[in-house]
Amino acid sequence: MPQKPGRHFLQIPGPTPLPERIAQAISRSTIDHRGAEFAQLTLGIFERLRTVFGTTNPIAVYPSSASGAWEAALANTLSPGDRVLFCTSGQFAVQWSKVATRFGLQVEELVGDWRFRVDPDQVTAKLRADPAIKAVALVHNETSTGILSDIAAIRRAINRAEHSALLMVDAVSSLGAVDYRHDEWGVDVTVAGSQKGLMLPPGLGFNAISQRALSAAQEARLPRSYWDWAPLLDAAERGFFPYTPATNLLFGLDEALTMLLEEGLDQVFARHLRFAHATRSAVATWNLEVYCRDEEGHSPTLTSVLMPQGHDADQLRKLILERFDLSLGTGLGPLQGQLFRIGHLGSINDLMLCGTLSGVEMGLDLAGVPHKRGGVQAALNMLAVTSGHRKENTGD
Ligand SMILES: Cc1ncc(COP(=O)(O)O)c(C=O)c1O
Repeated sequence: MPQKPGRHFLQIPGPTPLPERIAQAISRSTIDHRGAEFAQLTLGIFERLRTVFGTTNPIAVYPSSASGAWEAALANTLSPGDRVLFCTSGQFAVQWSKVATRFGLQVEELVGDWRFRVDPDQVTAKLRADPAIKAVALVHNETSTGILSDIAAIRRAINRAEHSALLMVDAVSSLGAVDYRHDEWGVDVTVAGSQKGLMLPPGLGFNAISQRALSAAQEARLPRSYWDWAPLLDAAERGFFPYTPATNLLFGLDEALTMLLEEGLDQVFARHLRFAHATRSAVATWNLEVYCRDEEGHSPTLTSVLMPQGHDADQLRKLILERFDLSLGTGLGPLQGQLFRIGHLGSINDLMLCGTLSGVEMGLDLAGVPHKRGGVQAALNMLAVTSGHRKENTGD
């Protein structure tokens, strides 16, 4: 396919646009992963990575996609036949629960309304009814719907039930973009990936691990080798890996952490909230509907937009890609065709957001999708009154 002029707008909710600084870091010559320079690199990474996860506990870093890190979370902590409560409020939670089933775990589903956050009271009720459940698993920011659940409330729900279940959280599309507190929220395993808020290409998976999860790993009997935390964490203490790591992605991660901490995590979170807010004002002005119906649950990192009856989201996306070189996220699972997803996470700024929203508005026009013009202007107005990245000015 001939290259288009200008640059491509990658506004899917991950992978996110690759910043030049990270691209350059990754393109360095690979170094010996058993040498002193490598150990210095990784020890510096782990220290700052813990700040982003909000933990003082160990973090396993895998050369893998985030789906690998899902598998690692289960394989290290559970035994065949263990019961796991999956809060399935979106396609990614469903996918993760399928991994558990394939591993021979018994999945107990808490099927939520996909347009709302996971309901903590229902978690308490399920746990009270089933003292044998070994773990509760949910997705913090459901990338298929654009809804952010309240993890602290889920921890309180588990405590209310006086239940010993481990809490496992997928923070794949929130980490590095949304406030996240592994220790404070009492999360036992946090699963993450490199290609979203961390601004890297795909290829790294993460497990942040509580002391309770480490103890559970001593008893867990699911087979594990590549995913085994023990050799990984043992080598990591000295800055090494038990196998060949993704050295160049680690160069990128080092740079990404520098960028996040330079901007300041609070500013990063405020920037994402502000973009989400501006995007929702555009959607409201277009007279289109945001999929999320939970006022407290809007995702800071992506917005899912429902198509009017009789209009196909994927046809709109195709037209926008061909005409404006802008990639938007497709509807996943049962939502395919019904909605498109605007990613506003990672290394993006006001003009990138405005360019994206302009592409959507022009696409709606061209595709003949019924809407009211002026969404871009509404977003501009919102961005103008919430200028800068200061938290108190987010308007959220
Ligand atoms: C919330 C969530 N969990 C898990 C995944 C799976 O990640 P990967 O495709 O890197 O395996 C994704 C991917 O988009 C995601 O958004």
